[in-house]
Amino acid sequence: MEKIFVTGGRSLNGKIEISGMKNSALPIIFACLLINEECILENIPMVSDVENALFILRQMGAYASFIDEHTVKINARNASLIDLDLDIISKMRASSYLMSTCLSRFGSVSMAYPGGCNFGVRPIEQHIKGFQALGATLIENTDLISLKFGKRPKNTKIVLDKISVGATINMIMASAISDGITIIENIAKEPHVLDLIAFLNICGADISLYENQIKVVGVKGLKGIRYRIYSDMIEALTFACCVGVTGGEIALQNVEGEHLEGVLSVFDKMGISHRYKNGALYIKKNASIRGADIVTAPYPAFPTDLHPQFSALLCYCDGGGSVIEGIFPNRFAYAVELEKLGARLNRVDNKIIIEKSLLHGATLDATDLRAGAALVVAALGATGKSTINNVNYIVRGYERLVSKLASVGADIFCDVK
Ligand code: EPU
Repeated sequence: MEKIFVTGGRSLNGKIEISGMKNSALPIIFACLLINEECILENIPMVSDVENALFILRQMGAYASFIDEHTVKINARNASLIDLDLDIISKMRASSYLMSTCLSRFGSVSMAYPGGCNFGVRPIEQHIKGFQALGATLIENTDLISLKFGKRPKNTKIVLDKISVGATINMIMASAISDGITIIENIAKEPHVLDLIAFLNICGADISLYENQIKVVGVKGLKGIRYRIYSDMIEALTFACCVGVTGGEIALQNVEGEHLEGVLSVFDKMGISHRYKNGALYIKKNASIRGADIVTAPYPAFPTDLHPQFSALLCYCDGGGSVIEGIFPNRFAYAVELEKLGARLNRVDNKIIIEKSLLHGATLDATDLRAGAALVVAALGATGKSTINNVNYIVRGYERLVSKLASVGADIFCDVK
């Protein structure tokens, strides 16, 4: 089993190149199934979720491969519908994007239930409700979910009961190629949703974003393009948490500043300051840092995908702080692991209160992607050596996390590349 070994206490100084955003890359890779021409996608992170998405497309007969370190070429002209009962589908949330793209391209889909990070039930009823409004019928059994388009209504209005990134993206992809108009309300507006819309519009789609509504005017087809995806806001903010723990100053290159502003303004008040110079974002820890109380909610509020790493940071802050998890009420599996490091915390329902604690090294288990990252953040400031198991979770969404941290002075290594 792959492990990460960390000896805490080193300050971080130097430059880190931020990779492309996993949660943009995945829907855009699956969106290429809608297109019968070659697409070149730039700034794609080399993470295992992306490799799995490309594998699924290849299983379907598409060309889908990295052609250099961060560029992917996809040509789905020869893709065909297969039974998508592949093991990786049930391990990967983004496989849900196959529902919309296969429905649109082939008129039906039969696939394993999409999986994803294990922090409680991950329902898909909003996706299903939307597909049904667009004219699909559903056949469910214990192992497979099957959808088939019947007669598609000319004009459809879908009001999501819950703001959902996945359902918003699926509704866009199911309706981009059609001869009707689709209005989607109560939408997610995360940067990756906007990235997908920008990609599809350059491909020839007609998608407009309003305050609380997306309007999709269906088009006949889409053309292949070259497109550069956004860089990863959560990766950049994870490194900011690391500096808050260790001290020092790092320059983050290839960042989308506007996506980071909300969280950086929280960090400013805590004593983790930032400035831009020569296109890089410099993050520096002041002499002392104070905690904060935050609530996670859909963008532009504080992102749930930074919650575990932020909790790790709070262990090092004067006065401690708290997190109310507003998206995934059970995203707290990291808490018992932080306790193994000596963190003093108390979880009640979807709120965790964290006191400033003296952390020491321990052997820890990553339980999901961001929980794993949180353990790395916490271990960087702990006294002594920590071992983090289950690195496979971390490599799903962080490209070369260990070598990037080592390059700015962390005492960290991994027994895999
Ligand atoms: N929800 C429902 N019914 C649905 C869909 C969602 O009740 O049909 C609920 C979820 O259970 C959750 C909330 O709505 O309570 C929001 O879920 P959402 O659908 O927005 O999440 P997702 O699309 O499954 C994506 C990211 C997650 C990220 C969330 C929230 C991808 C592949 N995954 O998941 O990323 O946490 O949006 O921003 O884009 C991560 O990167 O670590 C990660 C988990």
